[in-house]
Amino acid sequence: MIIGIPKEILDREGRVAVIPDTVRQYVQMGFEVAVQAGAGQGALFDDHAYADAGARIVEHPLEVWRASDIVIKVKQPWRNGTAGYHEAEVIREGGILIAFLHPAAPMNHEAIATLARRRVTSFSMDLIPRISRAQRMDALTSMSTITGYKVVVLAANRFPKLIPMTGTTIGTVKAAKVLIVGAGVVGLQAIATAKRLGATVTAVDVREEARKTAASLGAKVAGIEAPAEVALTPDGRTRALPETWLAQERALLDELVQDADIVILSALVPGEVAPILLTKAAVDKMKPGSVIVDVAIDQGGNCDATNSGGETTRNGVLILGQWNIPGSMPVHATWLYAHNVLYFIQNLYAKDPSTIDLEDEIIRETLVTHDGKVMHQGTLKALGQA
Ligand code: NAI
Repeated sequence: MIIGIPKEILDREGRVAVIPDTVRQYVQMGFEVAVQAGAGQGALFDDHAYADAGARIVEHPLEVWRASDIVIKVKQPWRNGTAGYHEAEVIREGGILIAFLHPAAPMNHEAIATLARRRVTSFSMDLIPRISRAQRMDALTSMSTITGYKVVVLAANRFPKLIPMTGTTIGTVKAAKVLIVGAGVVGLQAIATAKRLGATVTAVDVREEARKTAASLGAKVAGIEAPAEVALTPDGRTRALPETWLAQERALLDELVQDADIVILSALVPGEVAPILLTKAAVDKMKPGSVIVDVAIDQGGNCDATNSGGETTRNGVLILGQWNIPGSMPVHATWLYAHNVLYFIQNLYAKDPSTIDLEDEIIRETLVTHDGKVMHQGTLKALGQA
């Protein structure tokens, strides 16, 4: 069986789905590996490193797509503008595709329908269940860890003041105040990074466990304390707050942001559009020079003033709404993702390699298309076919 790795084609995407170490492991497992020339450039791996690990280097992407039984990618199939085809149209009929497919997002529906029509068996790395057996495959956590670090660095870079308390002969500069809204994977890593830079950190989350972890990392904890039955599902996941509670939280954040220098917004409810927690009116009360990073922008954003994919300024407050932050830290994002996919494929072929084991929770939960059909419930719901 041939595993193929085309170069990523989305703008400013530096990641790649394999590194030489994982190529070596695929070869040991009995696969042939075909890597498109230049695919590892952004992650600082040249073609020789892949060839030394046992890969065949292929010049043209179409050759990778057509020759491979399994294609591994980072991002979802997309139109290759320079070569003039859509990736979903050129994968081998009946082949296997593994990538971040984000299958429920409307912009991917057409590609998912094409994959189903072409009888491709596709798996989405953003659907790995959060169970202990799957921890080493959890690519979303990997990417959020990278993001939590990078957002603070991005904000610090645009913040016109020092972050740590600094003593000088002229006087003492106070530490900057960083407010983190949503203490999930991104938020907790952002707290740790902001603390390392010397900031005073305050965190807000609706989950008590997240608040406790934030406190253990040295953050002050603020925010509304909605009862568990309001904030959580019976299995302990965050649920969308009712409007009355959201209104209370907005009022509280309205106060908190007036005192903050940097605000990191990363509140998300699984499977939902991100809640709007910071309004334009609240932003307008912030100090000029403050910086907001709306990390939840891929899910619609937590601030109604964010320019999706870009940046904007209101009354001297800078709001960053950059997409694909892990793609801007390709070396370690690639190292993590390449290993997450390797463990996923090891599990996929742990039993009989000729059949898809739908009894396995990880395989079942990540399966998007199979046998000519869309299998993923969230996508069927989004398509109105559930
Ligand atoms: P997560 O699910 O681990 O954490 C989200 C946190 O938000 C949870 O702790 C949850 O309890 C909390 N939350 C939900 N509603 C809230 C509310 N009303 N108030 C306060 N807290 C609330 O998610 P993760 O991995 O930390 O990601 C956070 C966001 O960042 C997501 O929207 C994700 O898509 C986005 N992200 C964006 C990237 C980019 O490149 N722009 C890259 C990685 C993640």
